[in-house]
Amino acid sequence: MTSIVTGAAGFIGRALTSALLSSGSPVVAIDRRPVEEQPGLTVITADLLDVGDVFSSADEVYHLAGCAGVRDVAPGIGWRRQRDNVLAGARVLALTPPGVPLLVTSSSSVYGGAFRGRASVESDPLRPVGGYATSKVALERLCRDRPGVTIVRPFTVAGEGQRPDMALSVWLRAAQEGRPLRVLGSLDRTRDITDVRQAARAMIELIGVPGIVNLGTGHGQTLRAMAEAVATVTGASLTFDVVPAPPDEPGDSLADTRRLHSLLGWTPRTDLLDLVRRQQLVVS
Ligand SMILES: NC(=O)c1ccc[n+]([C@@H]2O[C@H](COP(=O)([O-])OP(=O)(O)OC[C@H]3O[C@@H](n4cnc5c(N)ncnc54)[C@H](O)[C@@H]3O)[C@@H](O)[C@H]2O)c1
Repeated sequence: MTSIVTGAAGFIGRALTSALLSSGSPVVAIDRRPVEEQPGLTVITADLLDVGDVFSSADEVYHLAGCAGVRDVAPGIGWRRQRDNVLAGARVLALTPPGVPLLVTSSSSVYGGAFRGRASVESDPLRPVGGYATSKVALERLCRDRPGVTIVRPFTVAGEGQRPDMALSVWLRAAQEGRPLRVLGSLDRTRDITDVRQAARAMIELIGVPGIVNLGTGHGQTLRAMAEAVATVTGASLTFDVVPAPPDEPGDSLADTRRLHSLLGWTPRTDLLDLVRRQQLVVS
């Protein structure tokens, strides 16, 4: 049973690869960034747009590679989102033989936030705001042509190895360096945060299930609760620099987890303090 993981050098890809390897399944890791060699792991360091026909040897494919993050405003970001979220996704869809289970990673950003404070349901109309969310909607549309794809919409994922641009990583570093925590909008905004280990486990259990499924906890954590966890873990006394939220930033995010629960038989649960503690061990 060989699993291919694209984006295996990334935050969630590393956790997923470890979980698959620890269950004894050989993994082929594809990323244009280097992936650490491990027993049972075959590494292909290449861009998905250049990679040859490696997908025909797979028993299942987890497509996590992408240009992640809603806040990136660097020059060329529009093209990078098109290349890595849309064109690379199209290539994986085309190269994965029919009948091979394929899981594609979209994002909760396709909802444009929790509409009127209500949890987002998979059947909700999509309200993408900004280039990242729009590129994920385009990726989901491509999946319509390939029956049987599992489309996962993760909400915020956190834990060891979180991307350095994400809020908890940014805040942990600021707290350790004695700088104020930059808050976009208000400390009362909420995020549905999933532990990366549970996100990886859920993906392994979901692959092969056709259709769209939210990946979240169904509980909103306030930015204040996140900051308090950072303060407890670092021992720092915090100050805040509250700035207006950019227009691409959803006010609140909250997953309706009914479909997820019915498929898994369990729902991810987040222990914020444990999560921040594990994350700090890697940041420091
Ligand atoms: N982290 C989250 O909270 C979150 C939430 C919602 C959705 N997602 C989605 O989940 C996926 C994984 O997120 P992450 O946080 O681990 O991101 P990440 O940036 O840490 O990892 C993405 C990896 O994909 C690789 N990659 C990108 N384009 C590639 C290409 N064309 N060819 C080869 N490799 C390529 C990158 O080198 C990187 O290692 C992404 O698609 C992201 O959009 C993440």
